[in-house]
Amino acid sequence: MANPVISATGLFTPADSISNAELVESFNRWVEAHNAEHAAAIAAGDMVAMQPSSVEFIEKASGIKSRHVMSKAAILDPAVMRPDLPERPNDEISVLAEMAVAAARDALARAGRSPADVDAVLCACSNMQRAYPAMAIEVQAALGIEGFAFDMNVACSSATFGIQTAADFIRAGHAKSVLVVNPEICSGHLNFRDRDSHFIFGDVATAILVEAKEMAPAAHWEIVGTKLKTVFSNNIRNNFGFLNRAAPEGVGAPDKLFVQEGRKVFKEVVPMVSEMIVDHMGELGVAGVRRLWLHQANAGMNRLIAGRVLGHEASADESPTVLDSYANTSSAGSIIAFHLHNDDLQVGDVGLICSFGAGYSAGTVFVRKAA
Ligand code: COA
Repeated sequence: MANPVISATGLFTPADSISNAELVESFNRWVEAHNAEHAAAIAAGDMVAMQPSSVEFIEKASGIKSRHVMSKAAILDPAVMRPDLPERPNDEISVLAEMAVAAARDALARAGRSPADVDAVLCACSNMQRAYPAMAIEVQAALGIEGFAFDMNVACSSATFGIQTAADFIRAGHAKSVLVVNPEICSGHLNFRDRDSHFIFGDVATAILVEAKEMAPAAHWEIVGTKLKTVFSNNIRNNFGFLNRAAPEGVGAPDKLFVQEGRKVFKEVVPMVSEMIVDHMGELGVAGVRRLWLHQANAGMNRLIAGRVLGHEASADESPTVLDSYANTSSAGSIIAFHLHNDDLQVGDVGLICSFGAGYSAGTVFVRKAA
């Protein structure tokens, strides 16, 4: 049976970013205009005045300082407050596929791999641009890969579910080289007029090349073990779908965008994920973990999870964050952390890539540096 490993990862980061100060200024200008427009109703007690957002709250509650986005001007325009990415004709590559291809090319170059050697493409992410044809097949065509491709969506856990799926294909002999891409335009599903969540997400794309050890480059990461878990919850939800007649218009249809009970998510997911990691370590006989590349949703959640797993407060070296500059990028978060913070580990070091999010869903991927 072939042994699956991670040969390389890749990253595409949008050029534009929005700081908390810029985001809050736009939000507060909209709040001011909204309250002025409805001043009479607010004075009469028929309407509740909107409250301003604050830079201090955002950083304290989440650890986020900035986020990269694909459409900065429109998001910051108080009259728009959503990304404006014009639809492209069908004979042009779609924007989500373009991002995925950029990340994939980075991973392929790092592995010294030609697309001709790849057998399958999985597009594993939260925010698919369309229903069909699958984004993964468009990425496959753009790269000139033969074989098969399909989309899979397990929200923020899509990348780890993608890694296990790719690893299983390799173990079963259905493929030797599988490209998993995670393009996320999270800003397309974010309600920039919701004070509780307008700061949460950013846009990015990552790629993971999972291959049979025999063909992998010398410098790779062995997959020691993977584990997946799902438990149904409505605490993170997005009702956008084909049954909606009108396009979501922010405040007009808030449930057709990302909504969450953030406090409940925090309280329920921290114990679920900590236990899952500790149990999985026990099953694999992993004695210690050198580094945790955790899902990047909230700095406080990661502090608690890492503390429970390590038995002490994790240092930035043990549990690196990319939340400050990328915000929550859904499935891509733990892969960005891994991509940017794995070079310095020693041969034999064991680390953990871990995701968690809507579903609820969680995935653990223990990896060991081979060379
Ligand atoms: N600016 C200023 N104040 C704000 C604010 C903003 N943008 N948003 C909320 N507040 C206020 C609230 O009104 C509330 O005030 P009150 O205490 O007077 O009622 C207070 O801040 C606390 O709000 P709350 O929503 O309870 O904050 P929190 O500390 O729980 O942090 C999250 C909010 C969303 C950052 C946090 O709960 C979280 O990250 N949870 C996990 C989310 C997650 O991982 N989701 C997965 C997505 S894939």
